[in-house]
Amino acid sequence: MYSTTFLDLPALTQAQGTVSLPGSKSISNRVLLLAALSQGTTVVHDLLDSDDTRVMLKALQQLGCTVAPTTIAPGQPVHITGLAGALPAHASAELFMGNAGTAMRPLTAALSVLGGDFRLSGVPRMHERPIGDLVDALRQLGCRIAYLGNEGFPPLHITQPDFSQWPDSPIQVRGDVSSQFLTSLLMALPLLASSRDITIEVVGELISKPYIHITLELLARFGIAVRNENWQRFTIPAGSRYRSPGEIHVEADASSASYFIALGAIAHGEGITIQGVGLDSIQGDIRFVEAARAMGASVEGGPNWLRIRRGAWPLQAIDLDCNHIPDAAMTLAVMALYANGTTTLRNIASWRVKETDRIAAMTLELRKLGALVEEGADFIRITPPATAADWRAASIHTYDDHRVAMCFSLAAFNAAGLPVRIEDPKCVAKTFPDYFEALLSVCSTPRERIPVICIDGPTASGKGTIAAEVAQALGYHLLDSGALYRLTGLAASRAGMALEASDAPQIAALARTLPVRFDAEQRIWLGDEDVTLALRSEEAGMNASRVSALPAVREALVDLQLSFQQLPGLVADGRDMGTVIFPNAPLKVYLSASAACRADRRHKQLISKGIAANIDALRADLEARDARDMNRSVAPLKPAEDSVLLDSSALSIEEVAAQVLSWWQERQPFGRD
Ligand code: DC
Repeated sequence: MYSTTFLDLPALTQAQGTVSLPGSKSISNRVLLLAALSQGTTVVHDLLDSDDTRVMLKALQQLGCTVAPTTIAPGQPVHITGLAGALPAHASAELFMGNAGTAMRPLTAALSVLGGDFRLSGVPRMHERPIGDLVDALRQLGCRIAYLGNEGFPPLHITQPDFSQWPDSPIQVRGDVSSQFLTSLLMALPLLASSRDITIEVVGELISKPYIHITLELLARFGIAVRNENWQRFTIPAGSRYRSPGEIHVEADASSASYFIALGAIAHGEGITIQGVGLDSIQGDIRFVEAARAMGASVEGGPNWLRIRRGAWPLQAIDLDCNHIPDAAMTLAVMALYANGTTTLRNIASWRVKETDRIAAMTLELRKLGALVEEGADFIRITPPATAADWRAASIHTYDDHRVAMCFSLAAFNAAGLPVRIEDPKCVAKTFPDYFEALLSVCSTPRERIPVICIDGPTASGKGTIAAEVAQALGYHLLDSGALYRLTGLAASRAGMALEASDAPQIAALARTLPVRFDAEQRIWLGDEDVTLALRSEEAGMNASRVSALPAVREALVDLQLSFQQLPGLVADGRDMGTVIFPNAPLKVYLSASAACRADRRHKQLISKGIAANIDALRADLEARDARDMNRSVAPLKPAEDSVLLDSSALSIEEVAAQVLSWWQERQPFGRD
């Protein structure tokens, strides 16, 4: 996940490959509860790992279900052995529901029907989320639920029900507050339907029918065939009994799929394959496919996959009622930037009351990119920038709304070759923490568009630390080129080579095939060996200095270094980064500091590691190494001509990093509109 303040996406051109998307939250938690109520073991594949599903899994274990493994790992199914429709006698538990509405509501219904002694609570926000309409419906049957705090809200105390006054009339539930209340009843009441039909009647208009559709589809998979009379009355037939389907796959989230469907329609390339959700999806947002096709996308699909390519180009402008796909319709608004005319998305009043006022947000942000946008109470009308010259580089504000962040990433395909800045990219965590990683893994762009920041300076100038800080702040990759010379020195000396010109061809051959890997924790691996510490030794520095003076070795490491220039950008630290490897880098910084200051820093560093050191000796060493590095004929230590100099003697690490970042910002095109 990118936790940076902003993420700059360079202009993108191509996309191809396969993405696997996270599982749908709505399906995951329904499947878990249904498996828990069934007899036998259900093997659940592709379960979403999120706060809400963890809450549900933990609660099910507390209730006596066997769950294995107890944590969700990618690619590993979870086995749930159900309760066969009954809890152990005198069951009791304190259940903490966090902020998981998809656990709180259905468990309240199921437990109050099963009976026992349960307290259900959550985070403070959960205690502000209404549950009164569900409790009222359950009380009609004889369920006993008491409010422990405010009337109508969790926390709740559930005790043994008394079904002696079972009503003849249908159970009534309001449908216009949250469809989760009806879903909860639909999943709990089959437990009571062994000898009688149970009818639920919706009072008021039923909102979010697509979610009820998901519930009904999943109930059918677990053996319960609910009769749906016009979304107003639902009857669970007598004799209903939960039966595990044995295995079940959780579909990938169809709303998340919309970004990759749009990507396939916009980008050049061989097309995008989406795994985990197909044309037969039970999720309402799968109908985004129809809208994308209407705009020109070429979409094929099967039971668990979709494949998208560019079809018509430019895309076709559309005029569409989007009431059935409110979330995915935001993606259409960004596709409209690539259309041949004005696109109107109608009947989207619900956008105004989502994570943010999405009509206002989309209007403002699309205008920043150069589009003409008209907004109404329940529609948005978008005319794309007239020519490439009318596009502007924009910093997109994301309003803590995951969908704003995700859909605007697609503006990086603009014909003007402009980058797009996404502010607060971590807001995607709500449904898709690794969205940008997934996006960038299938996107590409000509190498020269991927920005590089070069940082160099004499030994102990702090360049490594600063490079790492800057890379982290921008979400960029990091190339510690010195480490590559250190690795080459280490591997060559272990292979018994002489670290001088006589063995240069062999060392160069070794350098070309170094099995090196830098991991996310900034550890360096040579094959299976973690050599991070070994590389920091004085001897490794010495060996690096020797092999780095051999032109054949420098030449051999060029391709490896170039291969670090990957999306979204790179910070490269070391000697010839700005002169030889990335001569066109838009920012080159040369850090310096007085010898006294550097000796002092190195001294502190050694002491902190428990290594004894003498500050005068260190200073003499530094000065000798400076002289040697500056005077050597191969890649001598000197600032690139177009680099900016920064004397860090009187500055902290934070101050130096802030200065470098501010130079970087000055070179960006954002915010000048
Ligand atoms: O930055 P460092 O101390 O890890 O560098 C180790 C040696 O490699 C040092 O002598 C400089 C040399 N080097 C180089 O010649 N070219 C680079 N791009 C990086 C380091």
